[in-house]
Amino acid sequence: MNVGIRALGAYTPSKIMTNEDFESFLETSDEWIISRTGIKERHIAAEDEYTSTLAFRAVEDLIKRHGQQALEDVDLVIVATNTPDALFPATAALVQNRFGLNAGAYDLLSGCPGWVYAVSQAYASIQAGVANKVLVIGSEALTKIMDWNDRSTAVLFGDGAGAAVIGPVKDGYGFRSFVLGADGSGAKELAMRCTAPNLPDGTPLPQNAFMNGREVFKFAVRVMNTATLEAVDKAGLTPEDIELFVPHQANLRIIDAARERLGLPWERVMVNVDRYGNTSTASIPLALQEALDLGRIQPGDHLLFVTFGAGLSWAASVLTWGS
Ligand code: UT7
Repeated sequence: MNVGIRALGAYTPSKIMTNEDFESFLETSDEWIISRTGIKERHIAAEDEYTSTLAFRAVEDLIKRHGQQALEDVDLVIVATNTPDALFPATAALVQNRFGLNAGAYDLLSGCPGWVYAVSQAYASIQAGVANKVLVIGSEALTKIMDWNDRSTAVLFGDGAGAAVIGPVKDGYGFRSFVLGADGSGAKELAMRCTAPNLPDGTPLPQNAFMNGREVFKFAVRVMNTATLEAVDKAGLTPEDIELFVPHQANLRIIDAARERLGLPWERVMVNVDRYGNTSTASIPLALQEALDLGRIQPGDHLLFVTFGAGLSWAASVLTWGS
């Protein structure tokens, strides 16, 4: 069976925060942020907007674009997020209820790669006959867990959500490969406390999102290179076959390093980190929706996704676009 993306939708909160806005309360500058990350602005959830709210809006956008029938036969909902509304219930159950779906529901928490991880779970569930169609959402209200006095993390992240219906597609279309990886020896480099005060090795867990940017940067460049090539190879393709590379939008320098390694011109790379910052699990579906809106994807195009983050973890996938 061919399994791919049947419908997509996205949402970002209306409030925008520019680099200049940070200059008023942090020792930072527009110049530093742009030159080190490529980020110019990011969207910020309103006080009463949460991960569930953003997920609802992304699904509403999906319905607006594809009609209510796009949700027909959806019997599983997975919300990939690092900022669930609550430890329990799952944010996915709130989505199930909101849209009256006759579906199982769970959250998937695996750093920024969560959405690609969740898509792989959806793919496998459908192939195994466990589900017919799966609603896979990446949604984040990251700005609610930032330490706003920490200039090395606060300027990097933004809020948003993307929603996809994964299901059977016609011959010639659909996912061709998945690569999932993790290296928990780097757990302390990107971490935040929940119920335990320490990691198993005794490293104290911080109260807010903490990142060792330099270490994560080196890790990211390394795994973006290996995971992309592995995913392309597993798909039976070569990098030249990739019409559009849709990488995790964390840092323009990291994207550039991966692009160079793949030998792809910028015309074949989707970039919107400048306007959204790092939206973690929402990053790839937001970039994908924008690429579609810009007319940059045609049926039959081979797309390459790659993402990395807390865990440390990574994921890559090749999809032949079309339904
Ligand atoms: O999805 C999760 C993935 N996470 C990421 O993608 C993050 C990966 N890492 C990065 O993107 C980069 O490492 C950063 C953008 C976080 C930092 O860039 P960098 O070129 O690695 O800078 P650095 O961490 O080596 O810091 C250079 C200097 C430091 O000052 P000293 O120690 O050299 O005096 C920082 O304190 O820049 C300073 N700095 C800042 N200066 C102005 C850190 N943040 C800021 C800031 N404004 N916002």
